Amino acid sequence: MDKAMIVGIGMTRFGRHPDTHFTQLGADAIEEALSDANMDFREVQQAFCSRVYLPSATGARVMEVMGRTGISCPDVEGACGAAVVGLRQAMIMVETGQVDIALAFGVEKIGKGFMPPQILYDDWQCQMGMTQNPQYWALNAKRHMHDYGTTELQIAKVAAKAKRNGALNPKAFFQAPMSVEQILASVMVTDPLRLYMLCTPVDGAGAAIICNAKIAYRYSSKPVELAACIHQVSRFPLLNASSFCATDAGNPSVYASTSKAAYEQAGIGPEDIDVAEVQDNDAFSEIEYYEELGFCAKGEGGQLIDEGVTEIDGRMPVNTSGGLQSRGEPLGASHYGQIYEIVKQIRGEAGPRQVENARVGLAQVFGAWGHCGVTLMKRGW
Ligand code: COA
Repeated sequence: MDKAMIVGIGMTRFGRHPDTHFTQLGADAIEEALSDANMDFREVQQAFCSRVYLPSATGARVMEVMGRTGISCPDVEGACGAAVVGLRQAMIMVETGQVDIALAFGVEKIGKGFMPPQILYDDWQCQMGMTQNPQYWALNAKRHMHDYGTTELQIAKVAAKAKRNGALNPKAFFQAPMSVEQILASVMVTDPLRLYMLCTPVDGAGAAIICNAKIAYRYSSKPVELAACIHQVSRFPLLNASSFCATDAGNPSVYASTSKAAYEQAGIGPEDIDVAEVQDNDAFSEIEYYEELGFCAKGEGGQLIDEGVTEIDGRMPVNTSGGLQSRGEPLGASHYGQIYEIVKQIRGEAGPRQVENARVGLAQVFGAWGHCGVTLMKRGW
């Protein structure tokens, strides 16, 4: 198989864009990616559009704004993991030589506040009053606190790190630093998760141009290799959180099995990762991902935040962009925000957020009903 390289990236600022049509948001991210690759849109041979709450044929409608060239552009969906599904398809088409250049992009427009429950949950869950994602994340956090002694203070420290990093990121929605005390004083949404420990649904778009390694140097002097892009759906009924139903039964969670498959495909281990972006829907889940992705042993995630290991200047920097907690989450575009950050880091273009000598990066995404994605990237020059 050929190697696939990322030669162009683009993203809108994630946030509230009430006056911009979703097709324009998508086109803005694509234009930035094309300009980054110094590429004409007519060179793109295939596109994939990820979206969740936007209507059918969103991709085709974005093509309308770009100037229709007749290429295939299906919509792909996978809840909050939608973007990894499109990115993976683009990578496979390039790796198998079906096209030389593929565009993978995602776009979302979504109101603030709780997500509409009927779309995500079954009737029995609505009848039980378990209709909101943060409720499941809170159950997950509580169980971890019970089993491993993880504290509310550690969760607040993760949120404070997210705010600190987000303040350095001009593309983040929230750019104000916040102290641990301010976070612990914010309103309790669902015990133990407080308002400033949770991500907010936002509008936004992101794009990546994937190119055969043989011609990547035409478009970038710093192509970033897509070393692996794995998508799995959980084998266990983990609803919207909780790896416990898997691990209690002695099986790996979908986070662990997806990252394992990615590590194996890329020949990279967690010890090789220089910088990572993980799905911090809430500040606790970042602690869980430290463990599930192999950055530390089970139960030791809280220690990593206490010891500053995951800070920008730490041994294993995580969510240098500010993560979902600062960027917000435009569902179909969310993974592209992570890809954008990792590519910038690997190219050495992350400005005040730069991790010294970042060569290898991981981006992990998770969506309702068990969609999990892990993308590994490394220097391709
Ligand atoms: N950091 C900083 N400020 C934050 C914040 C954060 N993490 N979250 C909210 N705020 C601010 C908002 O900007 C807003 O300020 P304003 O009043 O000055 O505009 C205020 O706090 C209230 O936030 P808002 O978004 O209006 O609150 P809400 O009650 O409508 O919704 C949540 C808050 C947490 C319930 C909602 O965002 C939520 O459900 N998040 C999870 C989304 C989700 O399920 N995503 C995953 C999909 S699988």
